Amino acid sequence: MKDSFDREITYLRVSVTDLCNLRCRYCMPDGVCKLRHGDTLSFEEITEIVEAAAKLGVRKVRVTGGEPLVRRGCPALCRMIAAVPGIEEVDLTTNGTLLAPLAAELKAAGVTRVNISIDSLDPAKYAAITGGGRLADALDGIRAAAEAGLSPIKLNTVLIGGFNDDEIPSFVELTRAAPIELRFIELMPMGGRFGKEAYLSGDTVLARVPELQPLPDNGGVARLYRLPDGKGRVGLISPLSRHFCATCNRLRLTSEGHLKPCLHSEQEISVRGKHGDELLETLRAAIRAKPRMHGQLDAEHPSAAGRGMNTIGG
Ligand code: 5AD
Ligand code: SF4
Repeated sequence: MKDSFDREITYLRVSVTDLCNLRCRYCMPDGVCKLRHGDTLSFEEITEIVEAAAKLGVRKVRVTGGEPLVRRGCPALCRMIAAVPGIEEVDLTTNGTLLAPLAAELKAAGVTRVNISIDSLDPAKYAAITGGGRLADALDGIRAAAEAGLSPIKLNTVLIGGFNDDEIPSFVELTRAAPIELRFIELMPMGGRFGKEAYLSGDTVLARVPELQPLPDNGGVARLYRLPDGKGRVGLISPLSRHFCATCNRLRLTSEGHLKPCLHSEQEISVRGKHGDELLETLRAAIRAKPRMHGQLDAEHPSAAGRGMNTIGG
């Protein structure tokens, strides 16, 4: 189905929990507030919403969190979503630290590929930014995903000035030998602990690694580049310096059953307890409610999302 601005909505991002085993400083600096038991959508409720969304033209689902793999039975949920008629792709966004033992099961459940967040290649810095996470666990997860064929693997790195800008060349270097996509994401002002001084535009990467060559646009949110002899590629996702509202094809579902037409708007529409035609009509209303673009977004004008990233799923 098209929204009011002629954008075809084909992509649903589903947050399956707002809990996470890590505490990334830009995401949930103050710890997490746990939902009361029973507030989180059941697997059956999520599947019913995905079925309705598929009837309206959604073809791709991304399972996110919090950290989706802290939700017990996540592979079973992925299997239920992948079996929905019309759904062609099920992807997962994860911090990777719990992925190693689950990668093969996720692949067997019908997951197409995974995006793994990794903001430093230095164990001490990784622990600092994630509030105690172990880099080795994330690297094990990446390796297991590659072995399980959850590919092409995309790694997400949030650019943080004064924290990981010195590692830009090392991150890019990962794409020389491995067929991965390393995506640098501009830090969004979502209420985390970093201020204006930490924001770096995606173009910083091009300045630091001038060898990067542009690749043709593939219609995604990332501008793509590669090293001249690179097997993988580098993506620049620039929600601030070049927002992609004009081609936004997504709708979001929070773990407690609210549809979010736009990441950076506080508007939410509850689908909980709705079935059949009423559920379809609520989804249509959420699609129609998508704004043309979000309001101003910079250090002085933080996101109007009205909730932390861990409850929306990135
Ligand atoms: N700015 C940019 N990216 C963010 N993420 C979480 N919070 C922010 C933010 N404030 C990213 C995570 C992960 C994805 C789910 O969203 O690093 O890659
Ligand atoms: Fe967890 Fe992801 Fe938030 Fe980090 S960014 S705390 S891994 S939900």
